[in-house]
Amino acid sequence: MDEREAELIRDAGHALVDGVAEHLATVEDRPVWQPVPPDVLGRLVNVPLPEDGEALDWISESMLTDVLPYAMGNGHPAFFGWVNSPPSSAGMLASLVAAAMNASVVAGDHADVHIERTAVRWLAELVGFPHEPGAGLLTSGASAATVVCLAGARSRALTAVGHDVRRDGLVGAPQLTAYVPSEAHSCVRRALELLGLGSSCMREVPLDAGRLDAEALRASIAADRAEGRVPALLVGSAGTVNAGIIDPLSDLADVAEAEGLWYHVDGAYGAFGVLDPGIAARYRGMERADSLTLDPHKWLGVPVDAGCALVRNGDDLRDAFSLIPPYLRQHSGEPVGTFAEYGFEQTRPFRALKTWGTITELGRAGIAGQVIRANALARELATLVAGDPELELAATPETSIVAFRARPAGVSGDALEALNRALPTAIQARGRAFVTGTIFDGRETLRACILHRDTRSQHLALLVSEVREAARLAHTM
Ligand SMILES: Cc1ncc(COP(=O)(O)O)c(C=O)c1O
Repeated sequence: MDEREAELIRDAGHALVDGVAEHLATVEDRPVWQPVPPDVLGRLVNVPLPEDGEALDWISESMLTDVLPYAMGNGHPAFFGWVNSPPSSAGMLASLVAAAMNASVVAGDHADVHIERTAVRWLAELVGFPHEPGAGLLTSGASAATVVCLAGARSRALTAVGHDVRRDGLVGAPQLTAYVPSEAHSCVRRALELLGLGSSCMREVPLDAGRLDAEALRASIAADRAEGRVPALLVGSAGTVNAGIIDPLSDLADVAEAEGLWYHVDGAYGAFGVLDPGIAARYRGMERADSLTLDPHKWLGVPVDAGCALVRNGDDLRDAFSLIPPYLRQHSGEPVGTFAEYGFEQTRPFRALKTWGTITELGRAGIAGQVIRANALARELATLVAGDPELELAATPETSIVAFRARPAGVSGDALEALNRALPTAIQARGRAFVTGTIFDGRETLRACILHRDTRSQHLALLVSEVREAARLAHTM
């Protein structure tokens, strides 16, 4: 690159940074979410493939006017949808540097490789999971991390019965079974499907009001063994997606240990909740997992994408994935080998820099503060909901997700279900707050997930009044 092109980057880049900072500082002046206006949509969609290139400053300007304002809304403190946080400041800046390096993070003596090793170790330390070098890597998210972890579980279980799944696939393999709570995230089922085990390998875990019926679970495992299946995997959640509930991780660990099952904990949303001293004891047992998935792009605010797979024994992943043809030989300089030997990606982006930057910006204390505050806000929202005769709490929040329903006077049965199902879209369209829905305990339910560092009591009150108002409008229409 010559000095002239560098100058173009400086000019366009400075304008872009100014525009982004202005956008972030004024986010509350705009709707949480708004549909893309037709004229902008036209410029985004109905454009021919450009024959000639455009100047960098034109591209910067287009991004500022046609892209940045039309986001999903998670930058706004009244956004309570799904499990999406605003971006950390350091994470945004790190994304620029990572793109400027354009590394493929596999192995070698370069900063990106060292930083990924550090970021993974820090993540493990944050949640108190034992970590040896090599026993973890960053992924695009928890869904990918779950495929990585469960591939390790599959490989270990089949190797133990003398079946070489890497050579023979699943042909001739005994049927593995997996014990998965009904509230587990769909990514577990998808990973099992993808790994060829089929969703029919899934057995329900008998959990009632957060208590495990260990005897019933062990009886179900014994029945599978008696029928020639191979019980392989037990899953727990360190914070469910619907209601942020922490499964009895220690009781699950006991069963997994006694039965010789791979114990996988989904900590994508909730694992960082362990940093809240008020609920840390609820996480006991998480550190005994064979694998743990985390999503730094959720509670930590690392810009998407940043997931993490951690395993107790790195060799489990290396056995499942390591494949080094001559054209990919690369001296790692470390006995643990390359990152590509622990997962399914070869070219790997430098996700670690935004993760490293975010943790460095906040420190352990800052992250804990964010988690504690979010959990306190969830309790506050739950109190508002419980005290409102037109709303009802669906579950007592343990972390920062509040599941609740509208129940306006005079609406019941199917009409009440239809109302709660329709509410998220109606509230989103009003643009003042953003909430999403689910089915919890067999009923249509709203769920508010609090992850934004700028969310305050006033936003909780706004959400409650928006739910009431949208319910009133829907009911009187
Ligand atoms: C509990 C839980 N597990 C797994 C996932 C999947 O994570 P990702 O979307 O990063 O793949 C989510 C996403 O919300 C989640 O909440």
